[in-house]
Amino acid sequence: MFSKEVYENRRQRLCEMLPDSFLLFVGNAEEPFNYASNTYSFRQDSTFLYLFGIDSPNYAATIDTATGNVTIYADDITLDDAIWTGELPSVSVIAALSGVTITKPSGALFDDVRGELKRRRVHFVPAYRATTVQKIAAMLGLQTEAVNTYVSEPLIKSLVTLRSTKEQCEIEELENYMRVGYDMHVSAMKMAREGNSEQVVRAIVDYISQRNGGHVSFPTICTIHGEILHNSPTTQVLKNGDLLLVDAGSESPLHYATDNTRTTPVGGHFTQQQREIYNIVLNANNAVAAAVRPGVFYRDMHLLAMRTIVDGLTQVGIMKGSIDDAVANGAYALFCPHGVGHMLGLDVHDMEGYSENYVGYDEEVQRSTQFGFSALRMARRLQPGFIVTDEPGIYFIPALIDKWQAEGICKDFINYEKLKTYRSFGGIRLEDDLLITPDGGRVLGQRIPINPDDVESIVCSK
Ligand code: GLY
Ligand code: MN
Ligand code: MN
Repeated sequence: MFSKEVYENRRQRLCEMLPDSFLLFVGNAEEPFNYASNTYSFRQDSTFLYLFGIDSPNYAATIDTATGNVTIYADDITLDDAIWTGELPSVSVIAALSGVTITKPSGALFDDVRGELKRRRVHFVPAYRATTVQKIAAMLGLQTEAVNTYVSEPLIKSLVTLRSTKEQCEIEELENYMRVGYDMHVSAMKMAREGNSEQVVRAIVDYISQRNGGHVSFPTICTIHGEILHNSPTTQVLKNGDLLLVDAGSESPLHYATDNTRTTPVGGHFTQQQREIYNIVLNANNAVAAAVRPGVFYRDMHLLAMRTIVDGLTQVGIMKGSIDDAVANGAYALFCPHGVGHMLGLDVHDMEGYSENYVGYDEEVQRSTQFGFSALRMARRLQPGFIVTDEPGIYFIPALIDKWQAEGICKDFINYEKLKTYRSFGGIRLEDDLLITPDGGRVLGQRIPINPDDVESIVCSK
């Protein structure tokens, strides 16, 4: 945990933003894997981590912003439990680490919430686990399906405001931990050799995360079919000439997520065609890293990346016509149907549980409805302390190419004849994590090797 003052300060600021309100926070429970006592490994809810730092199951809390009273609800373990788990600190000891002095048994939460409900609204954030939905439904007397229609927009917006700007301690936590992401990716590059399988490379990547104490930030993507954006694990054997795309991250001890992607030529030598496309993606990534600064819309960074892609693809003859018009018409989305990035923090897609539109959009910038552009998660103005990913890609997705060609979509901007020679190319994505600073932005941690010559020499090194 950070020091208790960090959590006290966050809760104090929340109280100032939401005066005279009653706030309910339900932490995560352990969830059964195949039967009740065989559970998935525990992951605390990120809102609970942010406000309380308590990383134990079956905790809940309330904040009365009128009085400033904070109450933690949880049960001390019994001797029977301790036989299986060993001695654990008491709830009051754990709560004190978060600066909370009022603790009650978990059974008291129901009555306390029901009591408040008679007087005023109970504010809560969207619940994404069935057990949490059920608990909230029972307390508030709601149908489970209705729970997430009663979430509190003021609470969500306040938490987004607080969590979007990372404090110094959060930046240090993540920056120090970026070395683990570095190790995961450089190790994967070294394994990009003929005969290794996706499964083995993925296992090494995940092992490095676990060895450092961290859960992976999301299921590792490790594939020679990078054109499948979130490819489920497969077990194909690598062969020279393949491109191995690894998109992977690890959670720091306090659960801040790293998220990087590198694409490596199996055997250590890009073909001419691969190197051309790789350099276009790299130029797009670099263009964003060089242009970010407070006040710019991340939407415009998306468009900058996409313009760089259109420019590069025009130079190799895959695209044609006016670059401005191609960008305006979303022709790039045939090759990059996702957004350039998202916020990063306690969640890999930070705060996505509150709904993306609260995190990446606001009164100033609304989501586009254009294919590809509409997938952009983060569009609003950058501020110092934001951490965002910079992850352009170029993919050759046969089914999408066929559909666009059959329907004549953007035919003025796409050279479908030339595209035939790229049909089995696969995909390239290059992803860095950027901290927005008062006068610009920088890659968080040591940048994972990305220049094609450097990547090639890592594959070829022992
Ligand atoms: N793999 C998730 C992401 O990069 O957004
Ligand atoms: Mn990623
Ligand atoms: Mn990402």
